[in-house]
Amino acid sequence: MHVFICSAGFEPALVALLGGGKAWGPGVVAVGDAHVVAATDPMFARQILPDATAVFGASIRELAERALEIVLSRLEQCPGPWRLDVFAPDSPVDANLHGETDRRASLVRDRFVVELKARRRAVGRRRTEDAGAMRVQLLLMDRDRLIVSLATPVALACGALWPSPFVGGRPAIGDDWDAPSSAFRKLEEALRWMGTDIALGARVVDLGAAPGGWSHVALKRGASVVAVDRADLDPRVGTHPRLTHVRRTAFSFEPDDPPVDWLLCDVIAAPEKSRGLLDRWLSKDWCRHFAFHLKFKGRGDYRLAEGAVKSARDSGFVVRAKHLFHDKNEVTLWGRRAPREMAPPTLR
Ligand SMILES: C[S@@+](CC[C@H](N)C(=O)[O-])C[C@H]1O[C@@H](n2cnc3c(N)ncnc32)[C@H](O)[C@@H]1O
Repeated sequence: MHVFICSAGFEPALVALLGGGKAWGPGVVAVGDAHVVAATDPMFARQILPDATAVFGASIRELAERALEIVLSRLEQCPGPWRLDVFAPDSPVDANLHGETDRRASLVRDRFVVELKARRRAVGRRRTEDAGAMRVQLLLMDRDRLIVSLATPVALACGALWPSPFVGGRPAIGDDWDAPSSAFRKLEEALRWMGTDIALGARVVDLGAAPGGWSHVALKRGASVVAVDRADLDPRVGTHPRLTHVRRTAFSFEPDDPPVDWLLCDVIAAPEKSRGLLDRWLSKDWCRHFAFHLKFKGRGDYRLAEGAVKSARDSGFVVRAKHLFHDKNEVTLWGRRAPREMAPPTLR
């Protein structure tokens, strides 16, 4: 059995992508082995717990001991470093509040570590925070049920590790009191997933920029930003010396002197229209990197996002799409231009 973490409410979308499986609770989907091969990195999954087993225990101590029984012999057999992630599913009530179950999960982690030290101190010494190390994941489903998984992350074609480096598929994004909107979290999260940051001096185009959360993220890193939106920007962003506000529609905007370093796009538009916009930018080679939202109405036809990924690849980009922790009914696509193949030397 493999267990996937998604955002609460998106279990049916994940099951549809996997071609099977069952929601175990808000934000948790379990599937048998046969389904996983076809969808290694499904768009709606933020984390995978491969080869997972459920254990039960009435107390924190029992849960920790049962988990240890499952993983200890394998950790002893593998001499390398390993990492421990212990977490609870996202809270269905408030995405930023994980509450009681998370607190209990951290107690399970503490107990697991204490038990491990008592039994096999040498194994405990090999514990690391390295995302590439063998990963023990403990998911506290409810008070007395723990999902246990042990697997070495694999590198996907885009270069990213899977299981993802983020505990429970939730990168920690700090507060930013200067940001004009909470939307800044979405771009910060996308940048964490990309593993590539906006560099000092980068040239950025931000489509659908108002009130300016994403532009703020880019400006903070020392980029120059062209912010395209008919609506007003928050004055803290709009008056920034490295920002130019262009009041027009994103769909007819063309960058000066392409390619720019980054295309950012959070325009509210029908997904077909936004997909056309992305296709245009990538096929014309107008940007080197992008972070782009496709927004859906209702539980829409998410296959459109898969089509957008394919077009981006066809245009020569290394691309990935995910429904991220801070995303609402939208999918974030991100990518970078693949290095162009060197022309073979000509023989004289
Ligand atoms: C979700 S908000 C963007 C939030 C922004 N990323 C932030 O961090 O503050 C969507 C924006 O898209 C803009 N928008 C809608 N249609 C647009 C279009 N055709 N061209 C440019 N902007 C558009 C809206 O005016 C709105 O400001």
